[in-house]
Amino acid sequence: MVGSSGLLHLSFSGNLLPRLDRNEISMDMHLRLGRAYLEAEGLASTFVETIHPEDEMHSTLEATVGAGKSARVEYWKSGREVILALENILSHCGKGWGDLNHVLEFACGYGRVTRHLIQVVDPKVVEGSEILGDAVKFVRETFGVRAFESSTDPDQLELPPHFDLIFASSLFSHLPRHRFEQWLTKLSHALAPGGILVFSTHGSTVRSEVPKDSTGFTFIRQSESANLSTDEYGSTFVTPEVVEEIARDCQVARIAGVERELWSLQDLYVASRDPALRLDDWRNMSFVRGSIDRFDTSPEGQFRISGWAADAAAGEKVCEVTLLVDGSREVPAILGQERQDVANAHSRSEWSHSGWYLEGILPPEIAAGDYVIAAFGHSSSGRRMCFDVRAIEVPLA
Ligand SMILES: C[S@@+](CC[C@H](N)C(=O)[O-])C[C@H]1O[C@@H](n2cnc3c(N)ncnc32)[C@H](O)[C@@H]1O
Repeated sequence: MVGSSGLLHLSFSGNLLPRLDRNEISMDMHLRLGRAYLEAEGLASTFVETIHPEDEMHSTLEATVGAGKSARVEYWKSGREVILALENILSHCGKGWGDLNHVLEFACGYGRVTRHLIQVVDPKVVEGSEILGDAVKFVRETFGVRAFESSTDPDQLELPPHFDLIFASSLFSHLPRHRFEQWLTKLSHALAPGGILVFSTHGSTVRSEVPKDSTGFTFIRQSESANLSTDEYGSTFVTPEVVEEIARDCQVARIAGVERELWSLQDLYVASRDPALRLDDWRNMSFVRGSIDRFDTSPEGQFRISGWAADAAAGEKVCEVTLLVDGSREVPAILGQERQDVANAHSRSEWSHSGWYLEGILPPEIAAGDYVIAAFGHSSSGRRMCFDVRAIEVPLA
């Protein structure tokens, strides 16, 4: 696959149509892309790939991912990101997954994160809780964890105070203020000594079109849910100062937060009843963000594939981007291309040269069909991550 020039020679050529700009991806290709992502991240052998048809985390992605992207890949990636963020927090607390005896995934939905969680901890130590009965049944039966139904009113739920880790991804980002306070109190009281509660919410700079309340806490009656009342479940935007104030009022002894830690969108907080919990040096984790954006060919049989990649952590950078075509050898791209659009879109001026490309000559022997390309970013932190998986289509010449 790699020619003597060192350029990538993909095993196709001809009059190529870039698949990257196309919206429609067949179900077969979604499955193939999803599997390619899992293989790229070394997760394929035991990963549970069943997605519940009512899973709104998946259907929201289906409705919103950009052209040519697979909702399935984004769903796997977004769930994995929660696990990596938790792992980063645990390591700052001097702990690892193996130290946890009781983990509660609160508001687990249909298991976007649960399926990754059971890759790193024994399902026997995991409990999931959800307000949707079908979701409770699904996570129990599909992932082999214990699961129980929650309630809108925290006073209706009994929780034993034995959890080493409780996390709620994207729940507090939907709660009205009284529920925000009640659930923070309830969940923090369910922690074992030394346990931590991790939750995410939107900061006040998210969705600039939504007018924010001068109190620092904004709740609007609007959400992705077709099932839950918007009185109880809307969209919440809250400043770090107000989260700290609420935590103090709820007798949480220690609270720390990192802005836009999840999905470059939600702020992540750690709450604990242990005032000595050390989290002062907790920062955005090293996480490679990026995209395969274009695939171009010339009538002479040359190709160029390009995109961008950057590390979310301040001070870390992507040192290498490699591309893998249909599981063949990884080939390095050229880095350092100007991408002011990326810097502007993410408000990260240091990402202004995050562009990369790879050029080559297509070999004359043609195999028409679909090919899968996985792109990896290698960070100065030592992290190596698959940041995008795309399909390109080679039509009959
Ligand atoms: C945005 S989804 C996030 C799901 C999951 N945590 C994830 O990150 O994929 C929020 C979930 O919170 C659930 N939920 C809402 N109110 C709840 C409550 N009071 N108790 C438990 N779950 C609740 C919803 O049904 C929904 O599945």
